[in-house]
Amino acid sequence: MKLLTILGARPQFIKASVVSRVIREQDVQEKIVHTGQHYDTNMSEVFFNEMEIPKPDYNLRINCLDHGAMTGRMMEQIERIIIKETPDVLMVYGDTNTTLAGALTAKKQHVKVAHVEAGLRSYNMDMPEEINRILTDRISDYLFCPTARSVDNLHKEGYGNFDCKIEKVGDVMYDAALYYSKKSDTVSEIISSLRLTPEKYVLCTVHRQENTNDPEKLKSIVDLLNTINKKTKVILPLHPRTKKIIQSHGLKLSFKPIAPVGYLDMIQLIKNSALIITDSGGMQKEACFFRKFCITLRNETEWMELVDHKVNFLARNNKEVALKAFNRCIGTKYPIVKDLYGTGNAAQKITEILKKIQS
Ligand code: UD1
Ligand code: UDP
Repeated sequence: MKLLTILGARPQFIKASVVSRVIREQDVQEKIVHTGQHYDTNMSEVFFNEMEIPKPDYNLRINCLDHGAMTGRMMEQIERIIIKETPDVLMVYGDTNTTLAGALTAKKQHVKVAHVEAGLRSYNMDMPEEINRILTDRISDYLFCPTARSVDNLHKEGYGNFDCKIEKVGDVMYDAALYYSKKSDTVSEIISSLRLTPEKYVLCTVHRQENTNDPEKLKSIVDLLNTINKKTKVILPLHPRTKKIIQSHGLKLSFKPIAPVGYLDMIQLIKNSALIITDSGGMQKEACFFRKFCITLRNETEWMELVDHKVNFLARNNKEVALKAFNRCIGTKYPIVKDLYGTGNAAQKITEILKKIQS
């Protein structure tokens, strides 16, 4: 079986690392295309090195473009690669422009599409991610769903009548968190190098278009973080997109953010934090994996089970709501939350299903 994996953005490197590891142990021949969507060393290379992801067979270096240009140029290049490599299946992860470009190109070339993280919905069509994930799901042949809710979402949209296979496999991010947690304990020195006291800082990430493109929204997030930093130290590994917009709009953080970190350092930062404030999809779940409350800087989330379990609080863009959630979480015991995201063998399940596909 010949598999072509398309990736390009930070969370996809993390997700693909665990799947590629299992795939390499089996009789599946995988080639990797890096679209280049993320390209800074600490947004891309660091993950390939520390997570031992095979070097991409192709690097398209397509980045820093508007959505149409980015997706279009990726499609043009991916099409050439598909024609040359004749894969049986093309695999994509998540909901980025890289995901949609890969899926759409493969489908038009009559190559089967496997989508990891299928069935997630925010029901907010203003988000580029929602558009990408809905369109990718619709043309995928294998929909690998992380949660029961993601399977339900697909059935509500009539996927039971479509010619596709829906599989609840669990979340590959959980596989990754389990797999890299021990390595992170032994390798990462970030807590001592930043002189952090465990449980005495808040970890924050912000990068979503909906929060960064509107300077007023970003200003109010900066204001929130400055307020929190007066009480509890804020550690902010700053996404380059957010950094550029903060600088160009002259917004003032009252503390020094840090550069984006690798995954092994990130796990330590999460594990030792008091709580997490984020608009990241992955971080919302990782907060739960490592039993930290999460305040989400969005109006909605694809991971509603966390909200239902009262471990994730949607702060919208409202400072008062966020501060209320902050005060509620600090010092509160984390409840027992079990098996929302599988048991850490999602990559194994995905590989077993892929292996059954005849070449
Ligand atoms: C993308 C995904 C988002 C995902 C995020 C993961 C889309 C539409 N969005 O958002 O779903 O959550 O990746 O982090 O695909 N930049 C750099 N260096 C880099 C990468 C980005 O400087 O290595 C800057 C560039 O100015 C670039 C901007 O960030 O134009 C935005 O990058 P882009 O990949 O378009 O979107 P993200 O915000 O990273
Ligand atoms: N992450 C990381 N270093 C950072 C910020 C995030 O390793 O400086 C990891 C984070 O732990 C999670 C993933 O990147 O596993 C999430 O990526 P991101 O927030 O960029 O995207 P999203 O999950 O929102 O699509």
